[in-house]
Amino acid sequence: MLADVVLGLQHGDEAKGKVTHYLSKYKDYTHVLRFNGGCNAGHTIYHEGKKFVTHHIPAGVFYGIKSIIGPGCVISVKHFFEEVRELQEAGINLRGKLFIARNAHVITEKHLVEEQAETKIGTTRRGNGPAYRDKYARKGIRAADVSVLQPYLIDIYKEFYNDEAIKILCEGAQGFGLDVDWGDYPYVTSSHCGLGSVFLNGVSPRWLRDVWGVAKIYETYVGAKSFEPDLPVFERLRELGEEYGATTQRPRQCNWLNLDTLQQNITLNSINKLVINKVDVLRRLEQWKMYHNSQLIDFQNEKEMCDYITSQLSSDIEIFFSDSKNRI
Ligand code: IMP
Repeated sequence: MLADVVLGLQHGDEAKGKVTHYLSKYKDYTHVLRFNGGCNAGHTIYHEGKKFVTHHIPAGVFYGIKSIIGPGCVISVKHFFEEVRELQEAGINLRGKLFIARNAHVITEKHLVEEQAETKIGTTRRGNGPAYRDKYARKGIRAADVSVLQPYLIDIYKEFYNDEAIKILCEGAQGFGLDVDWGDYPYVTSSHCGLGSVFLNGVSPRWLRDVWGVAKIYETYVGAKSFEPDLPVFERLRELGEEYGATTQRPRQCNWLNLDTLQQNITLNSINKLVINKVDVLRRLEQWKMYHNSQLIDFQNEKEMCDYITSQLSSDIEIFFSDSKNRI
């Protein structure tokens, strides 16, 4: 039995969807498990020439792998069925492939309505915060108690612990910079986005093989706090990188890569494979900058910056630099 994990190391939108989609194709997993978040997430996936944006549904469905929305997730029934319909209309076969953990929680209509006026955090207004709040206040509703979800329900313990040949890809949502404990509270999401969350979803720590961390070569954040320095270069970066929310279409605030927090997040999540995406965007911007040791460093070119990043990270980590449309 083994488990690989893909998780975001910044503030979401690091292109985790691309990495899970790629791994689902090449690594013969029996299951893909989404372990946190709800329809606040938007995973952009290019499959056989078509663009898809998934919110709830794990990327394994594109390759016919049993895909489970885990107990650490919250589900909007309405958005779930909309997404099922969209994928089926696009020819993706979900029959017998898509499941929801019985003990996952539900985002109700009331949760959605409650969030419509939210401005303090700048949430996606998808009802995630209220659903997690009610879960922890022991007032929530579990998937097992929703009649229309019955055909999709699965018992994680029975599914994972009765078969020696299980190989799970665990797919994270958001990023560790938005983690409720490790992010810049209160500008965080309501779930646990890091490695620990995987084990809370019923995966044994003994099965762990690779932890893939995904980052961009610059940073973006969407929400109410001020993140972007007031400089025209970041307007241009946003345009070149097409940095607009996959779920809400909001412009993402941009900034240079912060290697200090990246190093911290790599360490806290035991990352051994690192994908640094969107290198082509800085290439078109013709600027190579990042923060390290709280200083802004200006590099001459791509090679200098990538070599520097590599030299600062542990040699145990395999690093892949990738362009926007590239495979890893
Ligand atoms: P919530 O998760 O909708 O409660 O939003 C809390 C914070 O997380 C806000 O700053 C959102 O913009 C951000 N957020 C939530 N999900 C994502 C995501 O998938 N990508 C990027 N930011 C996200």
